[in-house]
Amino acid sequence: MLGNFNKKNKEYDNEIYIDKNNIPKHIAIIMDGNGRWAKSRNLPRSMGHKAGVEAVREIVKECNNLGIKYLTLYVFSTENWKRPKDEVSVLMKLLVKYLRKEFNELNENNVVINHIGDIHKLPELCEKELNTAYENTKNNTGLILNLAINYGGRSEITRAFKLMNRDIKNGILKEDDIDDSTISNYLYTKNMPDPDLIIRPSGEQRLSNFLLWQCAYSEFWYSDINWPDFKKSDLHKAIYDYQNRDRRFGAIK
Ligand code: IPE
Ligand code: IPE
Ligand code: MG
Repeated sequence: MLGNFNKKNKEYDNEIYIDKNNIPKHIAIIMDGNGRWAKSRNLPRSMGHKAGVEAVREIVKECNNLGIKYLTLYVFSTENWKRPKDEVSVLMKLLVKYLRKEFNELNENNVVINHIGDIHKLPELCEKELNTAYENTKNNTGLILNLAINYGGRSEITRAFKLMNRDIKNGILKEDDIDDSTISNYLYTKNMPDPDLIIRPSGEQRLSNFLLWQCAYSEFWYSDINWPDFKKSDLHKAIYDYQNRDRRFGAIK
């Protein structure tokens, strides 16, 4: 497919070459379409979420293999509380199950299990498992897996404003010193690079309140595949497309 590419240092997958020298530092995924995946098979929505966890397993592993530094997965939005109680409960239980089952392998693979979002509002067990997973992996040096849970871009920015206001009142921050980077430092993603690539499967082409501040110059990649069907070859396609885009950041090349 890409005849000019030197195969050395490139990954070959279904005729797609991934340039190992131009791997995005930060990929963020809106894991959507679990419900539709289940519906199309006459299964309950919960089965779609369960199948979605398998896709998470494969993609996390592949991102780590490819040397991606940050992977942010949109697991549960601040708006997802509007769903029926039973579905919310299934999602919370799956989260705990995932963390317990995958912990050893993720830890052995040097992954940091981080989270972003207001996790205090989650059931106590979820909050506890997330904190434990982070505490026990925070010194790892591989992929930083950011699980966005009870996350919303607007509530993250609102929180940042409140924290900045508090620091101004306490004399820690001067209003005149506030710039873009100050605001970035008050977000959950403090010290992380902005996402280079945002992937949304399932056919929807919207952000749904994901990483609003951070996505100013992210590349977007959409696909009709529902999340449970998203394979590592789809990730490769997304990265391949990303590598062939021209990122100008407002300048002229
Ligand atoms: C994504 O799949 C999972 C969450 C939002 C928690 P959905 O549950 O949104 O699946 P669809 O969009 O209804 O198909
Ligand atoms: C976005 O998906 C949130 C997650 C994937 C966790 P939704 O299914 O909640 O988004 P909308 O409602 O289609 O915008
Ligand atoms: Mg959805």
